[in-house]
Amino acid sequence: MNIHESIQHYTGEINSINPVTPAELESFRIKYLGSKGVVRQLFEEFKNVSPDEKRLLGKILNEFKQYVENKYKAFQEQLTSSTSVQENEQKEDLTLPGEGFSLGSRHPLSLVHKEIVEIFKRMGFSVAEGPEIEDDWHNFSALNFPEEHPARDMQDTFFIKKQKDNDIALRTHTSSVQVRMMEMGKPPFRAIMPGRVYRNEAISARAHCFFHQVEGLYVAKEVSFADLKQTLFHFVQELFGEGTKVRFRPSYFPFTEPSAEMDISCTICKGAGCAMCKSSGWVEILGCGMVDPNVLENCKIDSKEYTGFAFGMGIERITNLKYVIKDLRLFSENDIRFLKQFETEIL
Ligand code: DAH
Repeated sequence: MNIHESIQHYTGEINSINPVTPAELESFRIKYLGSKGVVRQLFEEFKNVSPDEKRLLGKILNEFKQYVENKYKAFQEQLTSSTSVQENEQKEDLTLPGEGFSLGSRHPLSLVHKEIVEIFKRMGFSVAEGPEIEDDWHNFSALNFPEEHPARDMQDTFFIKKQKDNDIALRTHTSSVQVRMMEMGKPPFRAIMPGRVYRNEAISARAHCFFHQVEGLYVAKEVSFADLKQTLFHFVQELFGEGTKVRFRPSYFPFTEPSAEMDISCTICKGAGCAMCKSSGWVEILGCGMVDPNVLENCKIDSKEYTGFAFGMGIERITNLKYVIKDLRLFSENDIRFLKQFETEIL
């Protein structure tokens, strides 16, 4: 075979191969482009060709070399793109089930807060809020706390600024929002006021320096203690279920007269006696009473024309009863194992 024939032969041969593995590609390179490969050999033979033939043959030979090199490059590209496709196919198995989203869960206090708000909304109560940093007037004085009342003491209240007539403090209860509401508007008022409150207490399983309350206020003409009892009775049936019993015990709050504390039949043992109710069958859930006429007058409401009732409950306390959580600290420790146990909701 002369060079010309060889070129024709190898061109045909190359046209019929298609290396599909890296090893086949490497054999191709060695056979045609290696140091002892076809191209190199043909160039060796080319040295012995007569000068007349060299011109034409040289061109053909260079074209052949170019052709082989281009083929090699094309094979290389084909191989790398097909292996990456294969790898991707392996990575993405479209038959596998999708990965679920972790939606988190609502905090138990938020769940109970939401439930309380919904129950009172159905009874026509609106929802109001007030500031957590309060002055003495709204937190104490307007609520008929006498000057020397122990709650004003450093023991219970976080004071921010002591000043002559009107100290600034973190509110110790949401009753302060009652005052703000009555000062700002005209009766009738029918609202609940949820929010965070602060007390200077050592943190333990049963006490915390902050917690949450819901205050309730209804002021209108001829509001009676019977209205208070019926409202709270209905609330308890909705929150803890039909058949939950209530009882009222006389109590004292500076801002209500008469005042009472309300117990419900123990939701855990249904009155039979357990650790939650200290074997009494009853648990206390809130304080309430008829708004003291002094409070109405402090808020520029005529106490001869209007009467009202008020109540206040701790959200933690209600949550303890609903979910049997015995340690208050769990609510603010953000332990995911605790939080995960509560109802998951799509927001
Ligand atoms: N403010 C009271 C407390 O923090 C709770 C309370 C009792 C609120 C009686 C009231 C009420 O509105 O009438 O313990």
